Amino acid sequence: MARSALLNVMVQAAFKAGKSLARDFGEVQNLQVSLKGPSDYVSQADHKAERLIRDELLKARPTYGFLGEEGEEIKGTDGAHRWIVDPLDGTTNFLHGIPHFAVSIALERQGEIVGGVVFNPATDELYTAERGGGAFLNDRRLRVGARRKLSEAVIATGTPHLGRGNHGKYLIELRHVMGEVAGVRRFGSASLDLAYVAAGRFDGYWERDLAAWDIAAGVLLIREAGGWVTDSNGDSRPLEDGSIICGNEYIAKALSEVIRRPVPSK
Ligand code: IPD
Ligand code: CA
Ligand code: CA
Ligand code: CA
Repeated sequence: MARSALLNVMVQAAFKAGKSLARDFGEVQNLQVSLKGPSDYVSQADHKAERLIRDELLKARPTYGFLGEEGEEIKGTDGAHRWIVDPLDGTTNFLHGIPHFAVSIALERQGEIVGGVVFNPATDELYTAERGGGAFLNDRRLRVGARRKLSEAVIATGTPHLGRGNHGKYLIELRHVMGEVAGVRRFGSASLDLAYVAAGRFDGYWERDLAAWDIAAGVLLIREAGGWVTDSNGDSRPLEDGSIICGNEYIAKALSEVIRRPVPSK
């Protein structure tokens, strides 16, 4: 597997942030934590990781724009390129001592995601993809799962934060999906949910009310692993819409149908 120089920059930034997160994870009780909104936490560890990533990426490409979850957007003089970064995806898990969280870094060129890295420092799993070059877990090439029947599928999801999104609508979707699939999982890190779909661990995944930094890298992983990604309107613009439905072609289509099923009238 040959990585481009740019992907290597992204991997190095993810490793640096991952080291910092692993250190902080060991002393999580000493971290300063604040609330951004109802049940939406952020800690010193998120901020530190974002600074490390931003400095590393902008040192390598000073003209690119930078969009990170925890800081002001940097426009950049190069209008064509932008980094999209979630320094710690799975903050709630992290703060509860659950080793399921990741660094997510994507590179956008002319509005298209062309590079993606998702790194879980607790398991040392590094997911990478470049447009047209395939998706990898460490050195192993990835392919989405082959199951075609929803009744055999394990589907991941994310539940909206308290007070965010449309809980009522989501609960109806969840009830519909639970009635059709072999199992539903809620692991708490959107970027890893997507990486697990790319790796064939989950057969599919859906969620609403996401931000571009949650899914930019993961969407490329799935596409490069031969999977399908749509949003809840049936368009393939999940970054703009903030909703996502994915899997292999069969599972993604079947899941979309179930999710978009009309609510039965009482
Ligand atoms: C969250 C996680 C979670 C998803 C939330 C995200 P954060 O990201 O990805 O799985 O359900 O919608 O906000 O805040 O931990 O980076
Ligand atoms: Ca957050
Ligand atoms: Ca996130
Ligand atoms: Ca985050």
